[in-house]
Amino acid sequence: MGGVRRFSISVPSELAEPLDILIRTEGYANRSQAIAEMIRDRLIQHVAVSEKEEVIATITLLYDHHRLNLVERLTTTHHAFQEFIAATLHIHLDATNCLEVIVIRGNASQVRRASDALASLKGIRHAQTTLTAVL
Ligand code: NI
Repeated sequence: MGGVRRFSISVPSELAEPLDILIRTEGYANRSQAIAEMIRDRLIQHVAVSEKEEVIATITLLYDHHRLNLVERLTTTHHAFQEFIAATLHIHLDATNCLEVIVIRGNASQVRRASDALASLKGIRHAQTTLTAVL
């Protein structure tokens, strides 16, 4: 493997202009680099869904720690998935809100179960999961 393969692609005009703006604002060297990055990102999601591939997920949770039993339920969920949770970062944002970033590693189905369990806890204001893999 390695090296590059050259091929031409066609995209609808309405995608071409926003793509060039994105390339400029995000600092990509050129269209090839930007599109390669998009393909890599899509492949990671696809591999994670279709294979028993090892993946790493970061899940970001925003919640009000005063919500009834939420912290206790969150801790219970952390312990239930402790073998997959590599690290947790907790920031007390203000008097009410907490931000937690949890790094989960395992095969795709294990990671998905853990992130779903955390994200679906009642009282979580916002949850976002990002999957990554070594490609
Ligand atoms: Ni806190």
